[in-house]
Amino acid sequence: NKILVINGPNLNRLGVREPAVYGTDNLQNLEEKLQRAGRDHGIEVECVQSNHEGVIIDWIHEADEKFDGIMINPGAFTHYSYAIRDAIASISVPVIEVHISNVHKREEFRHHSVTAPVTHGQIVGLGLYGYELALQALLQLRGK
Ligand code: DQA
Repeated sequence: NKILVINGPNLNRLGVREPAVYGTDNLQNLEEKLQRAGRDHGIEVECVQSNHEGVIIDWIHEADEKFDGIMINPGAFTHYSYAIRDAIASISVPVIEVHISNVHKREEFRHHSVTAPVTHGQIVGLGLYGYELALQALLQLRGK
């Protein structure tokens, strides 16, 4: 009964980074909120963040045995990391991809996700609320 939340590069700068795009809440607030929501449902939510592709890949591999679901915001890796895509494809726990901003109304290079095709689903453009929705979805998927 554990869910892993992985935030990728530059998401440690939430709250200070381009607030018009990503809002003013910081990562710690988000993580605490998700942990509280998890507790309300009797599950443990573990949150990690890294700016390094290989570290994220290691977490994805390790999560396969330890977690019941993963939500991941791969940041800019979304658009070009075949290595993160392959890591997700190599595991069997459900993965939901989250993007805070509506990538489809932004630069062209953000319109394509190389990781989304190997995830269970994607939540885009709903701000930090997207992570709460992903948690609900992963709770639903548990045991299926
Ligand atoms: C993002 C969108 C990406 O294009 C960007 O590189 C990010 C954040 C989002 O949550 O909206 O770092 O994944």
